[in-house]
Amino acid sequence: MSMNLKKRTHTCGELRLEHNGEKVTLMGWVDRQRDHGGIIFIDLRDRYGKTQIVFNPSAGEVYKSGKSLRSEFVIAVHGFVEKRPSDMLNENLSTGKIEVVAEEIEILNSAKTPPFELDEDVEVSEEIRLKYRYIDLRRSMMQRNLILRHRMAQIARQFFDTHNFVEIETPMLMRSTPEGARDYLVPSRVQNGKFYALPQSPQTYKQLLMVSGFDRYFQIVKCFRDEDLRADRQPEFTQIDVEMSFINQEDIYSLVEGLMIEYMQQILGINISAPIQRLTWFEAMEKYGSDKPDLRFGLEMVELNDLVASCDFKVFSDCVANKGAVKGICVPGAASYSRKQQDLLIDFAKQNGAKGLVPIKISDDDWQSNLNKFFSMEVRQDVLKRMGAKAGDLLLIVADERETCNNVLGGLRLRVAQDESMIQENQYALLWVTDFPLLEYDNEEGRYVARHHPFTSPKDEDLYLIDTEPGAVRAKAYDLVLNGTEIAGGSIRIYKKELQQKMFKLLNISDEEANNKFGFLMDAFEYGAPPHGGIAFGFDRMAMLFAGRKSIRDVIAFPKTSSAMSLMDGAPSGVSEKQLKELGIKLTV
Ligand code: AMO
Repeated sequence: MSMNLKKRTHTCGELRLEHNGEKVTLMGWVDRQRDHGGIIFIDLRDRYGKTQIVFNPSAGEVYKSGKSLRSEFVIAVHGFVEKRPSDMLNENLSTGKIEVVAEEIEILNSAKTPPFELDEDVEVSEEIRLKYRYIDLRRSMMQRNLILRHRMAQIARQFFDTHNFVEIETPMLMRSTPEGARDYLVPSRVQNGKFYALPQSPQTYKQLLMVSGFDRYFQIVKCFRDEDLRADRQPEFTQIDVEMSFINQEDIYSLVEGLMIEYMQQILGINISAPIQRLTWFEAMEKYGSDKPDLRFGLEMVELNDLVASCDFKVFSDCVANKGAVKGICVPGAASYSRKQQDLLIDFAKQNGAKGLVPIKISDDDWQSNLNKFFSMEVRQDVLKRMGAKAGDLLLIVADERETCNNVLGGLRLRVAQDESMIQENQYALLWVTDFPLLEYDNEEGRYVARHHPFTSPKDEDLYLIDTEPGAVRAKAYDLVLNGTEIAGGSIRIYKKELQQKMFKLLNISDEEANNKFGFLMDAFEYGAPPHGGIAFGFDRMAMLFAGRKSIRDVIAFPKTSSAMSLMDGAPSGVSEKQLKELGIKLTV
């Protein structure tokens, strides 16, 4: 067999009927081999598709080579394109009308039997997939996802470029900052005992770029956070980071809406129109029990306090008297739930911190509940009316402290929507959540912490509360939510030194500490800082949702496990004594 490698003429996804009769050379991986009573078929695969290759027994030498091929061998095939017989057409394959009759092949490389089948339908444990990620990435799902991600990056670059944004890279080695998640640290060899931190986000740099007058900045950038991992959280993840000067919230909203219109149109083929729906954080918590509500279904929470304040059911009336909340959701058609189904929901509510959950079945336009005696007919009817309930529905009512009540019903809402299959595939619900509280009380630390970050501006109309009732101050902060996942967050920034100092005080960060950690930013604010604000998208999360996946690991080429390990290359790993010595580090473990 000739060993002079012929040049590839086409990809494995390219050949059509119009190429009938042409001499071609394809290269790729053997997807699978089928022996059909003499004739051998293989599917040759590359990232563009699959092409069927035929080896005829009459072809002598090449037939023998064809027989020796195994899955994942890398080969070059030289042959001619032939129209498939009409009973052999494959409509599911873009190359399904033709096949290539092999005249000569070259085995470019053999392959061990792969640790798992690459077939879409074969379930493979994620551990194995991650260990052999380079093979996993050959699977069409992963190829599709990474190509979609690439497309998304191109769309963003083009969009921001068109809108006059400048892409500027910022350091990966920066100084450690106190707020937010834990930093990943990098020890300095040149200055023993000192550390860089990997950026949790380019937040301070992008603000400095505004001070420098860049006016509109964006960057597709890696961020690093040492936090507890979940399906939508990785220790290193990617943001599309954005900052603008001389703007207000509305400018950010309309810019982001422009990008989302592009994404929905170009990636999903869905036309959406601006403006995107908005809810204040307060409304979101009260109606949906979440700061990132999934609006693909209803099940809104309804407050019943006024209706049950003086009823004879103590659980409800005492709760109202104690400034708690009595709220419910109405599950359409769920009056048929068995005792057991209801108990499962009650358990769920209790696991989530509620003292209990009251299910009330509705039939013949009244409650079917042993609690009926505690409520007048009038109250029962008022509740039905307010909750929009009708015969056949099931009410789920929680009475508790307001926050607990909201959280529990918010969780129940999601759970019931799943149980009842209320979420359709290919449904997309976008929403802005606005007016977040500026601060959040950290019980562990016994102080307020910034809910977003310490550079977020309070709302002007709430400034007067900052000394007396800091917990009630709202921020010029906003999140973009898609299908119940936070895909972007940002804020209008503080740009005056005095307010920034005040904010640090509120957060119990001493002048000294603030100076030490953020002195450079405070200094910069004294040299003409423009009003500015911005936002950052969770790029992986957005890609995950557009790809219809449940984990961001499926849209990241080489992700880490939930214990922050890379199973493929074995990071993190020990290092040599010599390396440690150079860094001036002694291990205590
Ligand atoms: P924030 O911390 O809200 O804002 O992050 C912005 C977006 O990044 C995504 N995200 C993550 N994705 C995957 N894994 C993680 N561990 C992770 N953490 C966050 C989320 C989130 O909405 N500097 C500010 C932005 C600004 O104010 O302009 C920031 O980083 O989708």
